[in-house]
Amino acid sequence: MNTQDYISRELKYGAHNYHPLPVVLQKGEGVFVWDTDGKRYFDFLSGYSALSQGHCHPKIVAALKKQADILTLTSRAFHCDILGEFMEKACKFFGYDKLLPMNTGAEAVETALKLARRWGYEVKKVPEDKAKIVVCADNFHGRTITIISMSTDPSSYGGFGPFTEGFIKIPYNDSDALNAVISDKNIVGFLVEPIQGEAGVAVPDDGYLKKCFDICKKNNVLFIADEVQSGIARTGKLLACDWEYVKPDILILGKALSGGVTPVSAVFADDEIMLTIKAGEHGSTYGGNPLACAVGMVALDVVAEEKLAENAQKMGEIFRAEIAKIDSKMIKQVRGKGLLNAVVTEPQSNLKAWDICLKLKENGLLAKPTHDNIIRFTPPLIITESQIREAIEIIKRVFLFN
Ligand SMILES: Cc1ncc(COP(=O)(O)O)c(C=O)c1O
Repeated sequence: MNTQDYISRELKYGAHNYHPLPVVLQKGEGVFVWDTDGKRYFDFLSGYSALSQGHCHPKIVAALKKQADILTLTSRAFHCDILGEFMEKACKFFGYDKLLPMNTGAEAVETALKLARRWGYEVKKVPEDKAKIVVCADNFHGRTITIISMSTDPSSYGGFGPFTEGFIKIPYNDSDALNAVISDKNIVGFLVEPIQGEAGVAVPDDGYLKKCFDICKKNNVLFIADEVQSGIARTGKLLACDWEYVKPDILILGKALSGGVTPVSAVFADDEIMLTIKAGEHGSTYGGNPLACAVGMVALDVVAEEKLAENAQKMGEIFRAEIAKIDSKMIKQVRGKGLLNAVVTEPQSNLKAWDICLKLKENGLLAKPTHDNIIRFTPPLIITESQIREAIEIIKRVFLFN
């Protein structure tokens, strides 16, 4: 089979809900992937930041294989020897009393919304069915009906109504806008991405998160951080909120919690919040399954042992500095933190972000556009200096010679 055969089969039998680059991958190792013709590429998407520990990290894969021979699923109908161990480790790692395990990022976001509403009714004493949650324009929190009800992007919500009620949408990076709505006593939470990944790596002004956090505290509103993409060392700190010494009341993690090996997500909170959900009121058959626990623990070990936050910080500085030096009319801006970066291209230039990504692919680097003129560059956090410099040369070549 050639590349087109693989693609045609996917198109014939699969829903057309994605528009992938025309490359068919077969193998991954570290920062590299190989296609079915054996061509090697730098992976600068990293499974939308899930593969922070790199493809097929040997320790994480070994943990998966070992656990796969012992016990893969119990459901939460029974206890499991490894679940408490994972919970203890992850809670201590991120500094919370408790976690609630799920699988995908979207499920974890849904969980956080339910938790905030429940806390609102039980602790804050908001009248029944009146709870509201403040969200930001241009957010991306996943694809479920409730989550797209919070979206301001027609390509996310268009044609999928009716929508879930109870959300107030305000502009991102605007703490005054939060201040203006917060006096509503039925507001239970403020949900925010510390950096908006899907929106094109929108980095808010310094101090934004802290100001919003303080506004929430003053008004007895939960500060809920969706760190599914920005968390777990991606931005050069364990959490992007750490840049402003903000500890979210509810923390949402996913993606790199498994190093791209199996879906693992979790919501973290302290007892006052977490214990408002009682037995039988929320869950998931696969949430906290033994494979996820085994993988999740080692994925966190790798983050600490390999000092991924420090490396992301160092490599990110090099990346942005070198890209900023490229003298190309196609580049409007390079922005980001750690290894969550994007290049904004000039909308007028001949090549759209998609075309540039095709050229990058031809030159051995995979990246994906978000919107028409933004390319996200998010390599695995294990990338070495010589590897990132080699990748930068590819990017330079494409921008200078097209
Ligand atoms: C900030 C954020 N939240 C939630 C999600 C949804 O995660 P998943 O695709 O695992 O449902 C994403 C996915 O990109 C994300 O970037």
